[in-house]
Amino acid sequence: MKISVVGAGAVGASCAEYIAMKNFASEVVLLDIKEGFAEGKAMDLMQTASLNGFDTTITGTTADYAQTANSAVVVITSGIPRKPGMTREELIGINAGIVQTVTENLLKYSPNAIVIVVSNPMDTMTYLAHKVSGLPKNRIIGMGGALDSARFKYRLAEALKAPISDVDGMVIGGHSDTGMVPLIDHATRNSVKVNTFLNDEQLQWVVEETKVGGATLTKLLGTSAWYAPGAAVSSLVQAIACDQKKLFPCSVLLDGEYGLSDICIGVPVILGKNGIEEIVSIPLSDAEKEKLQESAKGVRATNVLLSV
Ligand code: 2OP
Repeated sequence: MKISVVGAGAVGASCAEYIAMKNFASEVVLLDIKEGFAEGKAMDLMQTASLNGFDTTITGTTADYAQTANSAVVVITSGIPRKPGMTREELIGINAGIVQTVTENLLKYSPNAIVIVVSNPMDTMTYLAHKVSGLPKNRIIGMGGALDSARFKYRLAEALKAPISDVDGMVIGGHSDTGMVPLIDHATRNSVKVNTFLNDEQLQWVVEETKVGGATLTKLLGTSAWYAPGAAVSSLVQAIACDQKKLFPCSVLLDGEYGLSDICIGVPVILGKNGIEEIVSIPLSDAEKEKLQESAKGVRATNVLLSV
């Protein structure tokens, strides 16, 4: 199975690396517009193959989309990352044009591919990819919820002083500092609700730290994060490539689900060989429903800045 990743920056390269390390794809093509950059990253990664024990072939190309032909899954990471103090929404001006061009070029050579959008502002870029491609909604997936949920579990484990494997939790809503809705009342430690162990102040700390998870890293790193985003994308790609029928929160086009329509926003879905195989409806409290509606308002406020 062939996977293409556009954008050989830190997120794209980490994504290619994790896909290769999981050893389920025959081929990963990295594409970047910077001359030689994707080729260099691919060669460097391939020189880890014998050390890390993978057989996936990684190749790089400078903007030659023909090399991505017949990919089963394509991942769009292109665009500029945020700098400390910036919101993801502020990137729309530059990233919208890039994501539109990349989507069109990829689909020209891989008309049957499932598209995963990572570029920010992610929910709006996923919506844009829908608008410009006209693809059915099962084939365009925004990666945000899987990453935000991983950050949620990290903070839950920290607060609980528990191993991460003991913890489960999910973040829905928009992939933004104010739009994320960590479902703290649903989070569990080995099936026991976390509010059995944590007081209100601790629960609130987990929620707030989760929401600014990306911003905290951007401040520390001077640019946005890449390991967890790359790992999250690779998990979505694997679920599709291996038809795993796994449940992840992803940004998908809604058509009445959760009381929302004509918007891409994070909700739980089942991922398999057809991309989004089902949008899962989970019972939300009134407070959670309200937070999701508020989050949708924020995403729509960014969507209106698109010129499609
Ligand atoms: C993040 O680190 C890449 O949006 C991304 O949150």
